Amino acid sequence: MSVPTQLRIGPLTFTPPILLAPLAGYSDLAWRMSVRPLGGVGLAFTEMLSPASLIQGKTKRHKTIIATCEADRPLGYQIYGNQTERLRDGAMLLEQRGVSLIDINMGCPQRKIAGHGAGAGLLRDPDEAVKLAASVARSVSIPVTVKLRLGWERQRLVAHEMAPRLEEAGVAAITIHGRTRCQGYMGEADLDEIARVVASVKAIPVIGNGDIVSPAGARRMFDVTGCSGLMIGRGAMKNPWLPRDIWNDLQGLPPAPPPTRDAWVDYALGHFEGMIALYGAKGATLLYRKWIPQYLRRLLAGRRHLVEMMRLEDVDLMRAAITALREIRPLEEVLHEDEPPPEEG
Ligand SMILES: Cc1cc2nc3c(=O)[nH]c(=O)nc-3n(C[C@H](O)[C@H](O)[C@H](O)COP(=O)(O)O)c2cc1C
Repeated sequence: MSVPTQLRIGPLTFTPPILLAPLAGYSDLAWRMSVRPLGGVGLAFTEMLSPASLIQGKTKRHKTIIATCEADRPLGYQIYGNQTERLRDGAMLLEQRGVSLIDINMGCPQRKIAGHGAGAGLLRDPDEAVKLAASVARSVSIPVTVKLRLGWERQRLVAHEMAPRLEEAGVAAITIHGRTRCQGYMGEADLDEIARVVASVKAIPVIGNGDIVSPAGARRMFDVTGCSGLMIGRGAMKNPWLPRDIWNDLQGLPPAPPPTRDAWVDYALGHFEGMIALYGAKGATLLYRKWIPQYLRRLLAGRRHLVEMMRLEDVDLMRAAITALREIRPLEEVLHEDEPPPEEG
């Protein structure tokens, strides 16, 4: 099956058709600007943001969520909530500020959000959800997209019924994460159900999402579902070169060599510097801790490193600790150190 090389959403075209997922607490400016230069990202998203805080515009946290820069394009802003008027006002404010695409979150499983009828909570009331999306889509002239899960629970899958109604309501694209709310992150993304959503719409693109961690997985998503684009979340958090590797594969190019240890350390340092610019020295040092376990796994550092780095509170010590990761021995050496030397002759 031929795979698409670009994605059209309303009047906008994105190349490649690979999207970086909205990731609350992770997909900030610092991360986006670390991943984009590595290649393969056609469109990135802010994490979900509440239109109320957007409208009040006061908190420091809200300012860092919406922080962006010229090079951070193209960028979609994701909003969440279940109050139509607030979402509409938020969308209009974003449009006034020059945002080019808005996504509505209908997939967040967290109790504090879904339990109050927002995020995946909207999947329990498809009529209201469609009305809400219609109202937001009508209130702005930029494309409005929706990201949803398959349904609240397995016994009642609604995404394939909602998708054509959302299309009729003026939604310009749909991203579907192939799990239900009750599933959380258990099991695997259901590609057959994603295919059902793809088949349910007339013309708008459907973007497949869930568990893509390799070029082969990306091809499988396209082949099984017939989707128009891919969205990648956790795979890119662990391996920021993944979008590039997928894009190379989609173009039929040979795989790029895996990043060297130095490239990894440069990436990890650059990400940290971006966080310092965004959150200040102290904030960045504390927030960087959540990235340490995934980066250290890639850098094959042991538990001692992990424990030591997780305790650091000083920005210079954190910088020095990341830089010191250049010196850890390569995997082959570590794996083969107990083996006897090969016999001569
Ligand atoms: C830490 C974390 C934060 C997330 N935050 C958001 C969010 O703000 N908005 C959203 O629509 N989805 C959010 N998601 C869901 C992802 O966008 C994505 O749909 C999901 O992780 C499945 O894709 P993946 O297997 O490629 O990670 C989040 C997921 C994770 C793991």
